[in-house]
Amino acid sequence: MPAVVIANTGDVPEFEGRITFNVIVCVVIAACGGLMFGYDIGVSGGVTAMDDFLKKFFYEVWERKQLAHENNYCKYDNKKLQLFTSSLYIAALIASFIASKTCSKLHLGLGVGFANQAVPLFLSELAPAKIRGALNISFQLFITIGILIANVVNYAAGKIHPYGFRISLGIAGVPALMLCLGSLAIHETPTSLIERKKVEEGRAVLKKIRGVDNVDREYDSIVHACEVASQITQPYHKLMKRESRPPLVIAIVMQVFQQFTGINAIMFYAPVLFQTVGFGSDAALLSSVITGLVNVLSTFVSVVLVDRVGRRALLLEACVQMFITQCIIGGILMKDLKITGNLPNGDALVVVIMVCVFVAGFAWSWGPLGWLIPSETFPLETRTAGFSFAVSSNMLCTFVIAQAFLSMLCHMRSGIFFFFAAWIVVMGLFALFLLPETKGVPVDEMVDRVWKQHWFWKRFFNDEQAVEKREAEMIRPHLI
Ligand code: BGC
Repeated sequence: MPAVVIANTGDVPEFEGRITFNVIVCVVIAACGGLMFGYDIGVSGGVTAMDDFLKKFFYEVWERKQLAHENNYCKYDNKKLQLFTSSLYIAALIASFIASKTCSKLHLGLGVGFANQAVPLFLSELAPAKIRGALNISFQLFITIGILIANVVNYAAGKIHPYGFRISLGIAGVPALMLCLGSLAIHETPTSLIERKKVEEGRAVLKKIRGVDNVDREYDSIVHACEVASQITQPYHKLMKRESRPPLVIAIVMQVFQQFTGINAIMFYAPVLFQTVGFGSDAALLSSVITGLVNVLSTFVSVVLVDRVGRRALLLEACVQMFITQCIIGGILMKDLKITGNLPNGDALVVVIMVCVFVAGFAWSWGPLGWLIPSETFPLETRTAGFSFAVSSNMLCTFVIAQAFLSMLCHMRSGIFFFFAAWIVVMGLFALFLLPETKGVPVDEMVDRVWKQHWFWKRFFNDEQAVEKREAEMIRPHLI
């Protein structure tokens, strides 16, 4: 494997290292967490479009679907059906907080909440700064592959009557098992070892994963970060302090915005949505395979570009793209999809194409960066605690969208797409003015090099000079 000097732009220190086989193995295994999450996202939407499943568990939804003059926008509006899809995220929400405790002791864990908490942090700590974005995005890449696999399985299983949906649901155990077995084989990160006072082991692992002997500078930087972190016995308390606010706000907001792009209205309910605009059950499942494929392929764009053009450029470009597509979809439905009857064929095709363009934009921006940015911006002492807020915000918003989308579609009709478009404008403005660029900055240097330099967020840090100035001002009146 060729040696790569891990150099950074500007005045960021250079750490040596290569992209070793070890790094790659760790990334692949850890990213199985993404596969598990993705499969779960994809599978529920597919089975809820299968008649056998509906007949068995949601009979009234199935009956409503059969009515000749069914209401396009409301045929799937059923609280229990939505709860089926969204329940996973409540479970994951609780798990992410438990996982944050486990992660500060050990970087392993099971279940969606556990995996989402552990994997992005694991990847960000392990990756050399110069390619951290690309490595971290392997998590998102596996999420999208998981969704695609679920879509394909649903398409095939949908033809097996009457128990195809059981196959789709049963396969969800496979990636969980892979993650479980894989986690036995992976290294703990040097940071996690050094933090737990296993310093020599930490140095050895660092050498191994970087593939060079001289890791002194990076080792010193990690030790320094661990020393600072060890003074913090209550990370959640520290997280509530003023100086923790910038990364905390960014972590939560990135996840809230990620969900309010409307992506999961599309991911969970793509088959249902495509049926709404007039595709048959089979064609709807097939169309969601197509969007799943677009999702995977577009994530590669992010892998290639994130450490070159930076995070902000991708986020801003995607906002424009997603805004336009949501408005076009909303516009077509408003004009042509009446309460009963189907969309004309040409329109339905345009909707599918627009959904693909929307998914592509999300897949190279808010999708991966919603995980990457929160995992790389906290200082070590609050990293796991802070990141658990990001994960739980994701789960909470995913739950809200999964729970509300079909009812919102029923009541707001095409207006729901304009609702998401409005959110996209807000998140674009946020990214433009308040999101700092983190490309190429080592994780343990974020506070000094990113937050303290940002025009807005720097006010949350009392630097020494400001403290001295204040002290001098307090002393002066006594001297006069
Ligand atoms: C999001 C999921 C979403 C997926 C789509 C992830 O980053 O967290 O909610 O379904 O991307 O690819």
